[in-house]
Amino acid sequence: MKVAIVGATGLVGRKIISEIDRIGLDIDEFYLFATEKSSGTVIPVNGKSYEVKPLSPAAVNGLKADFALFSAGKDVSRAYAKLFIKNGATVIDNSAAFRMDGDVPLVVPEVNPEDVTACRKLIANPNCSTIQAMLAIKPIEDAFGVERVVYVTFQAVSGAGNGGIEDLKNGFFGIPSKKLPKNIYSDCIPQIDSFSDEGYTLEEWKMINETRKILHRPDMKITATCVRVPVFNCHSESVNLKLKKPFDIKDVAAVLKAAKGVKYYEGDSYPTAADADGQAIVHIGRLRKDFSEENSLNFWCVADNLLKGAATNAVQILELIIKRQNSTK
Ligand SMILES: NC(=O)c1ccc[n+]([C@@H]2O[C@H](COP(=O)([O-])OP(=O)(O)OC[C@H]3O[C@@H](n4cnc5c(N)ncnc54)[C@H](OP(=O)(O)O)[C@@H]3O)[C@@H](O)[C@H]2O)c1
Repeated sequence: MKVAIVGATGLVGRKIISEIDRIGLDIDEFYLFATEKSSGTVIPVNGKSYEVKPLSPAAVNGLKADFALFSAGKDVSRAYAKLFIKNGATVIDNSAAFRMDGDVPLVVPEVNPEDVTACRKLIANPNCSTIQAMLAIKPIEDAFGVERVVYVTFQAVSGAGNGGIEDLKNGFFGIPSKKLPKNIYSDCIPQIDSFSDEGYTLEEWKMINETRKILHRPDMKITATCVRVPVFNCHSESVNLKLKKPFDIKDVAAVLKAAKGVKYYEGDSYPTAADADGQAIVHIGRLRKDFSEENSLNFWCVADNLLKGAATNAVQILELIIKRQNSTK
């Protein structure tokens, strides 16, 4: 099996490589792509060294990769995903380019694995802040039904890539932000991505629309406020749910304790970004009833946005497709 990684030098690309290494996927050959600037960078994968090549149509034509994992932004995905597919690859895309396309599955393997079928050539990886919430909301939806979701996020600078990390580091020395819309050092920015006409940011719309698509609940009432915070890595979220029927909070706790890919924190203990850093699972705590509204509750949810929010999820999708393809042989 041959795998191309587009955006191999980025924060997500490097984690995709380390996840493939960690789980020991059986891959014969890697093709690593980034910009001209990174050409010649050597990255070790599975005990071999690979040189990063600049991405170009000539480099893709005739490549014959079985899979291409994209994490180089939506413009690159739009320009190159179909070319990889034409050359025989199945594409797993981390960007927002195709997520809401009707014929493109948007997949969190613990939640909607049935959306991946062997014939799909393009699968989208959801937005990082959406993925982590899905692992908690899906089992609650299955057990009680969810009527409404209110998201408030506290998102790390690594969510904006290498540029976000540089902005937080430089901010300490008074150097203005280049990637983020305002200075992030010692501040919080209630803007992630650009604004839509309705006053929401695109990140907020991603959480609303992607949640509905992944859960197959186009009718679900959802609102979101997404905030960038001066944390290097891991997104935290406050999630408020209104359920369809009355519940005992102990039963919701039992559902979360049993949820796949989730670590549940009992009582007064709770996770922070530092607890989730470097881990491929989602951490949930602070579960409590919302006494201001019927059938409602709050919880706190933390995950490594570069791992479960991006690379781990993408590699899990890769494993799922391989399994599906092998089962149809
Ligand atoms: N960071 C997260 O938490 C996260 C989570 C989910 C999804 N994503 C998505 O993943 C993608 C990458 O994010 P990131 O955080 O890894 O960003 P990043 O650290 O800025 O890395 C971007 C990568 O894309 C490459 N690249 C940029 N323009 C390119 C071009 N024209 N041709 C070829 N390669 C190009 C860069 O190469 P050079 O190093 O040569 O510049 C680098 O390897 C984005 O679509 C983002 O929305 C990110």
